[in-house]
Amino acid sequence: MTLKQHLLDSRQMAAFVARGFLRFDELVPDAINKRVMREIDEDAIQGAPAATPLSQCYHGTGIREMLDLPQVQGLIHSLVGEDPLFDHDAIHVREPNQGRAQGLHADSIIDLRTHFDIQIMYFPHEVPLEMGGTLVLPGSHFRKVNEMDIAAYQNMRGQVPMVCKAGSILVLHHGIWHCGRQNQTDRRRYMFKVRLNPVVRQLRLWNTDDLDDDYRAHREIFAGRDADGGVQDILSRMEPWFEAASGRLEIVNRVKLWRFLTGDEDFDVHYWVTRLENVPA
Ligand SMILES: [Fe+2]
Repeated sequence: MTLKQHLLDSRQMAAFVARGFLRFDELVPDAINKRVMREIDEDAIQGAPAATPLSQCYHGTGIREMLDLPQVQGLIHSLVGEDPLFDHDAIHVREPNQGRAQGLHADSIIDLRTHFDIQIMYFPHEVPLEMGGTLVLPGSHFRKVNEMDIAAYQNMRGQVPMVCKAGSILVLHHGIWHCGRQNQTDRRRYMFKVRLNPVVRQLRLWNTDDLDDDYRAHREIFAGRDADGGVQDILSRMEPWFEAASGRLEIVNRVKLWRFLTGDEDFDVHYWVTRLENVPA
């Protein structure tokens, strides 16, 4: 049972909806990190058939220990429910002094659902910039693209290269644009990825205790008082690669996903979606 204190809060969920990922630095203890790298070298980490409950996967491995950390259980529960299904995994090892990077791409070209899968990326050792960890483009997850068709795009404004300490975790929406960057060091790079499917409706699975406070803050802003906008503010933030019109499109996409996650069909950011629903008979 996931303890409430380990679930995500509404602002973290809003950040996931707006940007398509969450990042948790130095979450996994070093003993687990070292165990996982040893097990990768020994080829000792095996996934499971697709659609196996995650709770039945990876027994006796460091990956199981990582997944059982209360914070990891909390983020999984918040996004896809307590015991999602294992979809597939991948152990990405990049050899030293690689000549090229992976092209920018999205993994899920045939997946147009509002319901979403997550991909957990776990970095068991420190990744400096020259080691070229995974790169993600925040806010790209609603742009459904055909795999590597976007590979010609390089160095988009606002991109986030995963430069991190050992034990860091990225959690991605299945639609986000990403790539593995070139390893220019003389050390191997390891990254473990697992994709998870929800088996419960993704409705208020996180700790929603702060939602009322959040909406109150929003009303205060509209009343002209100075308050932190919380969810509204987060869902309104532009990414550097947006131009004005695409920013409006992304706000609409975000509002629709937030309504889906909260069940609140009246939710809006300013007036963007409500305006579109005005279809007098
Ligand atoms: Fe990928």
